[in-house]
Amino acid sequence: MKGDLRFGTDISYGWGILDRLGDLLPEGDAVLVLGRSSAKVLDLEKKVREHVHSRVEVFSGVEPNPLSITVEKGAGFIKETRPDLVIAAGGGSVMDAAKFMSVIARHGGTVLDYIEGTRSPPDSGYPVYAIPTTPGTSSEITPFSVVTVPERSNKLGLRHPAIYPKRAIIDPSLTVLLPKDQTAATGLDILSHAVESYWSKNATPLTREFSLGSVRLLRKHLMNAYEHGTDREAREGVSLASIFAGMAFSNNGTTICHAISYPITFDTGLPHGMACALTLGPTFDLLVGRDVDGMGELASSFGSTEGSFREDLLSFMTALNVPTRLSQIGFTGGAQRVIASGLGNFLHNFTIEVTEDDVMRIIDMIGR
Ligand SMILES: [Fe+2]
Repeated sequence: MKGDLRFGTDISYGWGILDRLGDLLPEGDAVLVLGRSSAKVLDLEKKVREHVHSRVEVFSGVEPNPLSITVEKGAGFIKETRPDLVIAAGGGSVMDAAKFMSVIARHGGTVLDYIEGTRSPPDSGYPVYAIPTTPGTSSEITPFSVVTVPERSNKLGLRHPAIYPKRAIIDPSLTVLLPKDQTAATGLDILSHAVESYWSKNATPLTREFSLGSVRLLRKHLMNAYEHGTDREAREGVSLASIFAGMAFSNNGTTICHAISYPITFDTGLPHGMACALTLGPTFDLLVGRDVDGMGELASSFGSTEGSFREDLLSFMTALNVPTRLSQIGFTGGAQRVIASGLGNFLHNFTIEVTEDDVMRIIDMIGR
């Protein structure tokens, strides 16, 4: 195995780093993109205004699983305001939305134009400075944006180097107030990124070490972060796991577990990370059954063996109080709904050929 590791975002990381935000942002007028709740709880607008001494205009209210119409509205706002920079402060949805808004604001078009490839950003949009308040999507360091598109009845993603944020400002102290269910959901999203990037067809020795490092950190710290939200070491560990997973999957992408999660989240509202984690165990067993390389090492990073990984993960998820069966969340579409949603590029990214029968088997394993 060989390969490159590419990276498009500068990272500033550290507990309390937000206190020196002024040193981490360039001078100039800013549009601040915010979500609905975390920004208010953390008083982020006030903190940004303390450190940015030029004009700050606010676009707020980006919803979870951001809608394409919100992205297009935000793009119109940025285009009208013509700032020097865009600051995205919030969870993955806020950052995903702000990255996409910045491209449309600069280069025109609609969300679907870019997702369906009728338009491609010739270069970056407005420079985005990302301040994550949750450690889940790693959106602050990836070239991905996932948007809910009601016309297509699904969540759809754009992957393009033009949407790498300029800088990620990662302060784990912002995550101490994250409620338990969100700590579980975002932690499982990180785990899914780490595990799926490990078995991606495009994994390399470089990305695999980041994947394994992320899984080890989550095994060590996620349960503590869940049980004791203010535990600094645990929150730092989970934030680092998010960076490591982001470095891996921003290079080689996610696979079938993410693809299957999108219609599940669209139909039931199950949080993204929980929806992805549902199929990690069955997919792991599928790969072990096909003698895929390195699965023992992956299991061992989780403190398991090839034979026990699925059960150990199930116990881990149960301890985090997240669903482990489709029947618990009222997903009634079954494998047909998942297959009909189009698994697209995710299948090409997988380390083995996957058939519709394989997808049915995976769904069947979590369906009863
Ligand atoms: Fe994800």
